[in-house]
Amino acid sequence: MAQHEVIRSVVLDDARNALILLDQTLLPNEKKFLTLTEPEEIHEAIYELRVRGAPAIGIAAAYGVYLGTKASKAATAEELYEEFKRVKALLASARPTAVNLFWALDRMDARFQREMAAGKSPAEIKAALREEAEAIWAEDEQVCRSIGEYALSLLEPGMGLLTHCNAGTIATARYGTALAPIYLGQERGYNFRVYADETRPLLQGARLTTWELMEAGVDVTLICDNMASIVMKEGKVQAVLVGCDRVAANGDTANKIGTSGVAVLAKHYGIPFYVCAPLSTIDLKCRTGDDIHIELRPAEEVTTKWYEKPMAPPGVKVYNPAFDVTDHSLITAIVTEKGIARPPYTESLARMFEQ
Ligand code: MRU
Repeated sequence: MAQHEVIRSVVLDDARNALILLDQTLLPNEKKFLTLTEPEEIHEAIYELRVRGAPAIGIAAAYGVYLGTKASKAATAEELYEEFKRVKALLASARPTAVNLFWALDRMDARFQREMAAGKSPAEIKAALREEAEAIWAEDEQVCRSIGEYALSLLEPGMGLLTHCNAGTIATARYGTALAPIYLGQERGYNFRVYADETRPLLQGARLTTWELMEAGVDVTLICDNMASIVMKEGKVQAVLVGCDRVAANGDTANKIGTSGVAVLAKHYGIPFYVCAPLSTIDLKCRTGDDIHIELRPAEEVTTKWYEKPMAPPGVKVYNPAFDVTDHSLITAIVTEKGIARPPYTESLARMFEQ
């Protein structure tokens, strides 16, 4: 990606008390940046997927809780904390599945409490919150690069790779998770051929993954979700790489709806299925995938969104889960910034946190 423009989807503009967000709902037709100043606007942007992807949601929430607290006129740390908690609760309610949202808000909360316990003033606490949010952003770039290096070690030049949804640069601080090895491979002449599932119903694969990979000069081919089987059968795919929104302690993984079907197909065709997961996405408090809250989204996303005319009869019953859980038995390896976890995941994932 070195010779291409680095796209930052989430940027703090502290001088203007604003969060600058790339509106991902408008891509690939329009590259528009939003200037958001109110926590309610940031909540709306997360809910509507203007900012999306687990790490990017966490970063936006961290900046959002900082900006919301910064705007407070509270005279004491305790009063400021009441305001912080209000903004935190608002942002936490935006989406339920990606654990990074809660991870980032809890990290901001812990920092607030440490500063308060140390007797810091409201101004000092605000400065500390800014520092923490910037650290979350900066660490994410390092984390993604490290995931990219480990994942690249599993791949060979010239491979065909299939990915689902968008786990790329715009879903993180930089590089992405599942797309990180593709960017690093691109820098090193690996000449990967990437197949991007369109990812119904919100088309993150068609609109976002193909867009950012083409911007970086990567060979990418768009396929409809129901074409994954044929490209695998035809021998075009040597590995599947996906991101994730929450990984349970046993390795069960929630990711964009359709991911588990791809994993079943990969198993059938004997293709390795790799999940790229920052530790901030691994939730050891969830024992299995059954403990993961799956977000349900509005029917219009399936019936009318992206279409000029409705593509289903008015009033049709619609079931629209935004994520599904891939059983750990279908996952060849989970690639983290600390290394590559292999089955049994209950042990290997726990070990990642001990490092
Ligand atoms: O609903 P979305 O677009 O936020 O879903 C995103 C995904 O499922 C990604 O694969 C996941 O968050 C990983 S992003 C590095």
